[in-house]
Amino acid sequence: MPATTPPILLHTAAVMLLGALLAGCGEEPKPPAPTVFTAMPADAALAQVYDSSCKLCHANPGAGAPLTGDTHAWAPRVAQGADTLLDHAINGYNGMPPMGLCMHCSEEQFLALIAFMSGQSLQ
Ligand code: HEC
Repeated sequence: MPATTPPILLHTAAVMLLGALLAGCGEEPKPPAPTVFTAMPADAALAQVYDSSCKLCHANPGAGAPLTGDTHAWAPRVAQGADTLLDHAINGYNGMPPMGLCMHCSEEQFLALIAFMSGQSLQ
C-alpha cells in the first residue's frame, strides 16, 4: 500500500469539493414566488392602507424596495431596530418616500405594516 493518497483519489476529492461549493451557491434564498405579491394584511383597515400606498412599491420588483414577504431582503433592515425603521418610514430613506405616501398613517400602523411586509415581529 502506498503511504500517500493516489492522485486519482485527490482528484475525486477536489471534484466533490467543487460540487459542494456549487451546491452551496444553489442554496442562496430565491426571490419570493409571485404569490407573495398578492399578500395582504389580515386587518381590513391596514390592508386598505397597504393596498393604496406601500404595496405600490413593496410588491413591485422593479421599485427597488424590499418586497413583502422577502424575509431575506428585510433581515438586515429589521436588524437596524424598530426605531430606525420607523424613522425611515416617516422621514423617507433614499427611494423610500416620507410616510410611504400614507400621510394619515399612525406610528402604530407603520410598525404593523413593516412587521407585515418583513414577516418579522419588530422589537
Ligand atoms: C414610492 C415607492 C414606495 C412606497 C409607496 C413605499 N415604499 Fe418603503 N421603500 C421604498 C424603497 C425604494 C425602499 C428601499 C430604500 C433603500 O434601501 O434605498 C423602501 C424601504 C422601506 C423600508 C426600509 C427602510 C430601511 O431602513 O431599510 C421601510 C421600513 C419601508 N420602506 C416602509 C414602507 C411603508 C410602511 C410603506 C407604506 C406606508 C412604504 N414603505 C411605501 C419605496 C416605497
